[in-house]
Parts: sequence; C-alpha cells; structure tokens
Amino acid sequence: MSNKKRILTGIRPTGKLHLGHYFGAVRNWVKLQNEYQSFFEIADVQGLTDNFNNPEKIRNNVKEVTIDLLSLGIDPKISTIFIQSTIPEIAELTVFYSNLVTMSRLYRNPTVKTEIKQKKELFGNSGESVTYGFVGYPVSQAADITAFEGSLVPVGEDQLPLIEQTREIVHKFNSIYGETLTIPEPLLTSTPRIKGLDGNEKMGKSLGNAIYLSDGEKEIEKKVMGAITDPSKIKKDDPANPEICMVYYYHKLLENQNLKTVCEECKQGKRGCVACKKELIQVMMEFLKPIQEKRHYYEEHLEEVDQILKNGSENAKKVAEEVIKRVKENMQINYFK
Ligand code: TRP
Repeated sequence: MSNKKRILTGIRPTGKLHLGHYFGAVRNWVKLQNEYQSFFEIADVQGLTDNFNNPEKIRNNVKEVTIDLLSLGIDPKISTIFIQSTIPEIAELTVFYSNLVTMSRLYRNPTVKTEIKQKKELFGNSGESVTYGFVGYPVSQAADITAFEGSLVPVGEDQLPLIEQTREIVHKFNSIYGETLTIPEPLLTSTPRIKGLDGNEKMGKSLGNAIYLSDGEKEIEKKVMGAITDPSKIKKDDPANPEICMVYYYHKLLENQNLKTVCEECKQGKRGCVACKKELIQVMMEFLKPIQEKRHYYEEHLEEVDQILKNGSENAKKVAEEVIKRVKENMQINYFK
C-alpha cells in the first residue's frame, strides 16, 4: 500500500443519503480520496446501537448507502469501502478499550449527552431506553479509527467530542502498554450545515425536510414547491429579499448559472416565487441526473456492489489484523505463535 497518510471515516447505514450528506461531507471525501489513502466504513454495528430491533433497516441501507457513495464519486479503485461488522478486530479492540474509559467520562461526552437527551424526549424520562451498547459507542468508534491506523478523521463539528475521546483512549493505551496506536486528528469539514428548504438550520431525515439523492421529479417538485420564501412577498411582483429565501439559498448551493439574474429579478419584483421554484426544480434535476444515472447502473448491477464491499472488507481486514497483532503482543495476551 502507498505511504500516503490514511484517512478513516464512517457513516451509519440508517437511511439513504440526501443533499445534506453530499454538501456537508461526501463532496469533501470525494476530493480527499485523491490526496489520502481513504477508508470509508459503513458502520452497521454502530447503526444497530439505535436500531437493534430493526435489523432489516440496517441490512437494506448498507446497500443503499454504498450505492449512494459510489454514485457520488467515491472510487473503489483508489478507496476502500468496507462493512464494520465484517472486521471482528474492531469488536475485540472495543472490549480492550472499555477498561480505559470511565462511565462518567462517557456520560459527559457532549455527543452522547445530546443523543441521550433526545432519546429521553422521545421515550420519556426513565432513561431505561439507554443501553450499554449505546453509551459505549464512542469506545467502538475509537476502535473503528485505530483499527485502521486512521491518522486523519474527516468529520463534522458534532463528531469532535468522539475524536477527542478516541485520542484520550489512545494516549491511555500507549502509556500503559507502550507505543502501539496512532493518535488521530480530526479533519474538520469546512462546509457549514446545509439548511432545509423549510428554513430549518439542518437538512435531516428525522426533520422530514431531506432531499434524497434518489428522489424523482415528483418528490423534488413537492418539496421545492413547499419551500419557505421571503414572507413579506405576497404578490408575484412584490420585490423581495433573496437572502432570506430558501429557494435562493438552493439556487446558490446548486450553483445555478443564472444566479445573478435570479437575485436581481427577485429584488426588483420581476420574478414570481412559483417561476423561481420551477427553475430550481430544473436545476436540481440537472444536478441529480448524473448521480441518478450511476445509481441506476449499480441498482442493475448489484453483484458489482457486493464485490466492491467484499474486496473492501478484505482489504480493511488485512490492516486491522496487523494492528490487533501488535495490540495483543503489547497487552501480553498473545499466547501461541
Ligand atoms: N458516528 C459517525 C456518525 O454518526 C459515524 C462513524 C462511525 C464514524 N464510525 C466512525 C465517523 C469512525 C468517523 C470515524 O456520523
């Protein structure tokens, strides 16, 4: 393997990918794969921490997310896409690391804290819905990162506390058992969160405002027609402020060639919102077209998708085997040659 620095990042297979995933993360991964040796983990075990009673959902989305990644330009010839559960070394490391983390530290992890709060809002305040596996998922994520000696971890801001926790685990491991593991650094994605057409600060599946990469014209039409525009504009020829209009925000995000005109006409009251939305539907369909063509190809060639995952998982396993060998040696639990 090349001696380029290695990046490792993961994605939970809990749903198809949407524009927020692309602009917030995957677009950056596609660029990074040319500069770094890239490992992309489909984190099915982590997905199960919240969905252990719904295995079909995770199973189906492993395939969907892989197809989405391939359609967006992750290139299996230069990058490794693999499934977390096919690498038992990750589970082994998780057990070893679990001794190096206190419960109170896990409960103080801001990402875990926020997620527990959301669960309590959903399921009531008993806290009974919080499982051992869920509270411990940062430990498992530390195993994900270190099993592949990921030195850079491209993530969004919400994941920083998990990388910090990984660094703590690695420091502790190395100080007890000797220099063994690579200390990872986060590689913060510069793109801010993608807003929803409904004006929400975030596009998300659970917020019901997601535009999926696989959405057809009918779905796009419905979502765009319902978008929030400048509320002061009542009549078609009222002038309005594009800066507070979600339709304009998306024209800009999708790099409409006609952006200047959209902006000027809106300000001068020369463009009605319906026409502006119709134009956005066209721009969005154009944007999605090549992605959906690739998606269609992979849907017709599922055996190719399987093969990519199989090769990727084999490749990833080789790396993890080297790491676990060193880990066991240094922990003095390597009994037989
Ligand atoms: N927790 C990440 C998320 O929800 C997904 C993930 C799993 C991950 N394993 C990882 C991210 C390892 C970075 C590194 O988005």
